[in-house]
Amino acid sequence: MKLPLFPDQASTSAAQVDALYFFLTTTSFFIILLVALPMLYFLFKYRRGHPANRTPSRIPTWKFEVTWTVAPLLLAMVMFSWGARVYFNIEVPPHDAMEVNVVAKQWMWKIQHPEGNREINELHIPVGRTVKLTLASQDVIHSFFVPAFRLKQDVVPGRFVTEWFKPTKPGVYHLFCAELCGADHSKMIGSIYVMDPDQYQAWLLKGSVGDNLAQTGARLFRELGCSGCHVGNGTIRAPPLEALYGHRVPLQTGEFVLADDKYIRDSILLPNSQIAAGYDPLMPTFQGHISEEELFALIAYVKSLANQAPPLRP
Ligand code: CUA
Repeated sequence: MKLPLFPDQASTSAAQVDALYFFLTTTSFFIILLVALPMLYFLFKYRRGHPANRTPSRIPTWKFEVTWTVAPLLLAMVMFSWGARVYFNIEVPPHDAMEVNVVAKQWMWKIQHPEGNREINELHIPVGRTVKLTLASQDVIHSFFVPAFRLKQDVVPGRFVTEWFKPTKPGVYHLFCAELCGADHSKMIGSIYVMDPDQYQAWLLKGSVGDNLAQTGARLFRELGCSGCHVGNGTIRAPPLEALYGHRVPLQTGEFVLADDKYIRDSILLPNSQIAAGYDPLMPTFQGHISEEELFALIAYVKSLANQAPPLRP
């Protein structure tokens, strides 16, 4: 019988995390022995009534001092640099990733694919592809935890967080919420389906809803009235959204800011925090009027305009 001490290793980071963990555990165990074994030995040797040489010894202590200072220092530096390498590797997403949005709310995980597919408490992905998750919470702090991928990320309301992983083995893996988030926290669980690429394509087509995420965003853009100011001939002049995403935006303050997901999000929810140079702070906030899922759709729409030329205006 196999002892299930470790979950499956089903992502590229899993082996790295496990190796580090194994190193930390064995090192700690070794240090425990180093302290506890002599302690037990002296306990017996110098017990009361036992004849033993109890005259204080005169060995130069500086050699011991240097040894027990330098050796743990080196060991700690090994742990630090190894840990930092693994940390940076799992925190910085590679560029070729497919992007998936995750909205956490009491008590479910809502997933959006760029193709328009949506799922709840399930995430279907192809094996061998890097997946970048952008996570948001609709209410309280949740934590997206997939043990088989060695992936755990707190999802904090009011901001985006990102994580990435590259699944290496087809299969079904547990998804947990790892942050106490209310009465049904323990039921906020799901499954990650890692599929062969052609199975995944079939799954995408089967669940196709017509509109992809950017098209949903374009519809919202009109319904919410954004187009009134941000498109062509509106009476109020607002910054055009073409060629915006991924570019540097000059602000009224003279600073520049990169137009990324966070910037678009802040511009919708906190429109007066970063005013684009040459424009008046006229935009109303959409805080409370728009869900995290709708935000993701609008961002996808703005992203889809990134390669279009801005319209010429009089
Ligand atoms: Cu969400 Cu616990």
